[in-house]
Amino acid sequence: MLVLVTGVAGFIGAHVARALLARGDRVIGIDNLNTYYPVVLKQARLEQLIGTAPKFRFAPADFADRAALAAALTGESIDAIVHLGAQAGVRHSIEHPRDYVHSNLVGQLEILELARHAGVGHLVYASSSSVYGDTATLPLDAEARADRPVSFYAATKRSNEIMAESYAHLYRVPMTGLRFFTVYGPWGRPDMAPWRFAERVLRGEPLPIYNHGRMQRDFTFIDDIVAGVLAALDRPPADDGAAKPGGSRAPHAVYNLGNDQPEALIDFVALIGKACGVDPVLELLPMQPGDVTATWADIGPARRDLGYDPVTPLAIGIPRFIDWYRAYTGQ
Ligand SMILES: NC(=O)c1ccc[n+]([C@@H]2O[C@H](COP(=O)([O-])OP(=O)(O)OC[C@H]3O[C@@H](n4cnc5c(N)ncnc54)[C@H](O)[C@@H]3O)[C@@H](O)[C@H]2O)c1
Repeated sequence: MLVLVTGVAGFIGAHVARALLARGDRVIGIDNLNTYYPVVLKQARLEQLIGTAPKFRFAPADFADRAALAAALTGESIDAIVHLGAQAGVRHSIEHPRDYVHSNLVGQLEILELARHAGVGHLVYASSSSVYGDTATLPLDAEARADRPVSFYAATKRSNEIMAESYAHLYRVPMTGLRFFTVYGPWGRPDMAPWRFAERVLRGEPLPIYNHGRMQRDFTFIDDIVAGVLAALDRPPADDGAAKPGGSRAPHAVYNLGNDQPEALIDFVALIGKACGVDPVLELLPMQPGDVTATWADIGPARRDLGYDPVTPLAIGIPRFIDWYRAYTGQ
């Protein structure tokens, strides 16, 4: 199978591409290597793929640029798309909303158009737990209304699902949206809590803890997310008129991919300190705009339909992240 992976130099994209290659699929990876966080990390992830895998081709392109996307894929016959490229990050969306319109809205349209015209067998795309906002009942259920986003990032992610629904309905392209819950692990993102906390703990700097530590997150280890993405890719929703998870009657399903294990932020910080061999110093601060207080995924539908079965608790995943972080940064 030839799979297009967008955001292939990103955290989740690089891991997914490697897993697809390992099982024998061919992969074309697209990324524009933008400077939201250091490009050197994106290049290092790519080096794990380029050269080591003959079935991999990297196409540097902006997928929101229709002509560049078409040029990158000339002559290729793509079987499926895993669309993981996006402008991520809740806090950045407060100062830079246009980045999200470009990559997440215009970009999503171009990927939908590609899926439609190339007639791909399945489009799997990334959504986010942030679509639930801060009002939904826990655990978060994909059937719940999700139209009260508390960040513009979340608004674009929910829009991705609604745009996908219209294309699945009109053009019957099978699609699956995956709402990821706080993914962490080796090759992770420098803007996310595990990295920022590890950096500060190892330097002996205080950790800013928002909402005075009254936060809960359903942290999901990268290997579990990759297993969920591949399981979803292999199971395109049927075009049978039956209601799918998320409520669609078109061939479009939406699943939560979390860990089903909400953890107090304070316990997460303690595990980081333990793995680093340092007692963290906490700086307790008020809630930040755009943040939600708690996430906890209902993963029942993903277990049932995809065989999704996350197996990595924080007590295993955090030391694995810290080992990688120390080796990568030399700290
Ligand atoms: N990591 C998480 O915890 C998490 C949680 C929820 C949702 N998500 C979603 O999962 C997906 C992957 O996230 P990630 O953590 O790997 O983020 P990431 O920032 O590491 O990866 C995204 C990649 O997309 C690329 N990109 C952005 N805009 C592009 C464009 N217009 N054209 C080409 N490439 C572009 C970036 O250069 C980057 O390498 C994103 O859609 C994100 O919103 C991630």
